[in-house]
Amino acid sequence: MIYGKRIRLRRPEREDLQTFTEWVNDPEVTKGLTLYLPMGLWEEEVWFESLGKRPPAERPMVVEIREGEAWRAIGNCGYHNIDTVSRSGEVGIMLGDKSVWNQGYGTETMRLLVKHGFETLNLNRVQLYVYDDNIWAIRTYEKVGFVHEGRRRQAEYKDGKYKDVLVMSILRDEWEQQANE
Ligand SMILES: CC(C)(COP(=O)(O)OP(=O)(O)OC[C@H]1O[C@@H](n2cnc3c(N)ncnc32)[C@H](O)[C@@H]1OP(=O)(O)O)[C@@H](O)C(=O)NCCC(=O)NCCS
Repeated sequence: MIYGKRIRLRRPEREDLQTFTEWVNDPEVTKGLTLYLPMGLWEEEVWFESLGKRPPAERPMVVEIREGEAWRAIGNCGYHNIDTVSRSGEVGIMLGDKSVWNQGYGTETMRLLVKHGFETLNLNRVQLYVYDDNIWAIRTYEKVGFVHEGRRRQAEYKDGKYKDVLVMSILRDEWEQQANE
C-alpha cells in the first residue's frame, strides 16, 4: 500500500471490476477521459487479465478513502509510458465516485502519485495530458505544481467536436523545491 494523509493506493482486485464498470459507464465521469464507448463487465475482465503483462510500475492503483474502520474505493490512478532512459512517465487519474469530488482527494492523489514517481520510481519528469475544457482537472494539476507546456490542437475528437489537449509536466527539481518550501 502507498499511504497518504486521507487516502491509500492499492492494486486492483477482481472484486473491484463491477464498481469499475459502473464508473466507466457514467458519462459525467468519462467526459474528461479518452473513453467514449459503453463498457461491459467482460471487457473490464479482459483488461484486468492483461495487467500482469504490464511492467509492475505501470499497473494501475485503486484510490481508497477511510470509511469508519474500513477503506472504500473512490477511483483509479497510475503511471504509463515510463521511459527508463529519459526517466519520464505519464500519469492518469479517474475518481469514479462522484460523491467525493471537490473535496481535495484528486489533489491528494496526484501529489501522492507524483511523490511515488520521484521518490520510488526515480523519475525525473512526470507528464500528463488533459482536455483544455477540463478546467477542474487542470486546476487540480496546477495545485500539485504541474506546469503548462503546450497545446496539441484539435488532437482528439470527442462529443461532436475536435478538442485541444494540453500537455502539463512537473520536474523533479520543481517537486523538491516545493517540498523544501
Ligand atoms: C478531475 C478530478 C481528478 C479532480 O479531483 P477532485 O477531488 O474533484 O479535485 P480537488 O477537490 O482536489 O480540486 C478541484 C479544484 O478544482 C476547482 N474546480 C472545481 N470545479 C471547477 C470549475 N468548474 N472551474 C474551475 N475550477 C473548478 C475546485 O475549486 C478545486 O480548486 P481549489 O482547491 O483551488 O478550490 C476528478 O474530479 C475526476 O477524476 N474527474 C473525472 C475524471 C477526469 O476528468 N479525470 C481527469 C482526466 S485528465
